[in-house]
Amino acid sequence: MTAELKEILSAYEGQKGAVIPVLQKTQEKLGYLSPEAISEIARALNTSPNEIFGVATFYAQFRFTRPGKHFVHVCLGTACHVRGAGTILENVERELAVEAGGTTKDYRFSLDKVACFGSCALAPVVVVDKDVYGRMTTTRIKEILKNYE
Ligand code: FES
Repeated sequence: MTAELKEILSAYEGQKGAVIPVLQKTQEKLGYLSPEAISEIARALNTSPNEIFGVATFYAQFRFTRPGKHFVHVCLGTACHVRGAGTILENVERELAVEAGGTTKDYRFSLDKVACFGSCALAPVVVVDKDVYGRMTTTRIKEILKNYE
């Protein structure tokens, strides 16, 4: 068991109904819920890994595969779409060698598409982690991604 997981589990020891907060804290620390973490949580809470996995899969917030260090979200909402977001996404997929919904082999980036960021005036929009980039072009996104090591 990792020291981080041990710390989380000891903070919630004996607390009934602690499954969700334990899963949230674990994902916060590890970035996702690994099979090992799920087994450890199940053992600590006196239940089965299947039970814990069943609870976790009910909530969209939990991830079960290791994410990239940085999250790239390309907006494909209407305003962004009409201004070439589809081409930008294709370029990012080619550049990172990963399809939307996936993570690069080196775990540097996770790539995804979204419906709208609510920044349509800046279309097309790409968000990297919490940084919003508007009026995106295929050339600019390549340069921007180089800044995220
Ligand atoms: S459609 Fe892209 S920000 Fe709204």
